[in-house]
Amino acid sequence: LKLVVLISGGGSNLRSLVEASEDAEFPARVVAIGSDRDADGLALGEEYGIPTFTVAFTAYADRDSWGDALLEQVQQWQPDLVILSGLMRLLPPRVVAALSPNLVNTHPAYLPEFPGAHSVRDALAAGVDQTGASLIVVDDSIDGGPIIAQERVPVLPGDTEHTLHERIKSVERRLLVQSVLDIANGHVDLEELRTA
Ligand code: GRF
Repeated sequence: LKLVVLISGGGSNLRSLVEASEDAEFPARVVAIGSDRDADGLALGEEYGIPTFTVAFTAYADRDSWGDALLEQVQQWQPDLVILSGLMRLLPPRVVAALSPNLVNTHPAYLPEFPGAHSVRDALAAGVDQTGASLIVVDDSIDGGPIIAQERVPVLPGDTEHTLHERIKSVERRLLVQSVLDIANGHVDLEELRTA
């Protein structure tokens, strides 16, 4: 399974996927890493010898033209699956349409709880004693797509946004690797999920 992973940040979840794919038995490999900005995680490309590309959102007049440029870069790699792992930008509808259902996103909450870009902070502010991690098929909603996998994560007394997010990420990484395995070996059918 050829994966293209899109990031905007440090790419710690991406690192887990790359490390998993170092195992010859793992039926997927990251063929390219892309970003909408000069993300720290692009350095993983250098570290692991994986091609990277940047389509800077700020270099385009509008979201649609940015999306078209991003889609062109992604499709060059002919990925079987595109993974949004900390891409902090909404994809335009025509990009989602072109890639769906082979387009998944990892989100640091137990969707449909706490959608959006500040879910860890929102969970803390809500004073809940548990939140979660979710992997979903991307559709045109904001974090409302079909759920592939999700798991509860406890919120502990004294948690900061950082400590809670790190605990969530450790679950996200496991869900990501397991879900890629399940998709590669047909245990999860994204087309079925999308039309369910
Ligand atoms: C992850 O928690 C992801 O779910 C969220 O942003 C974080 C990215 O972390 N959208 P990293 O860049 O993989 O460290």
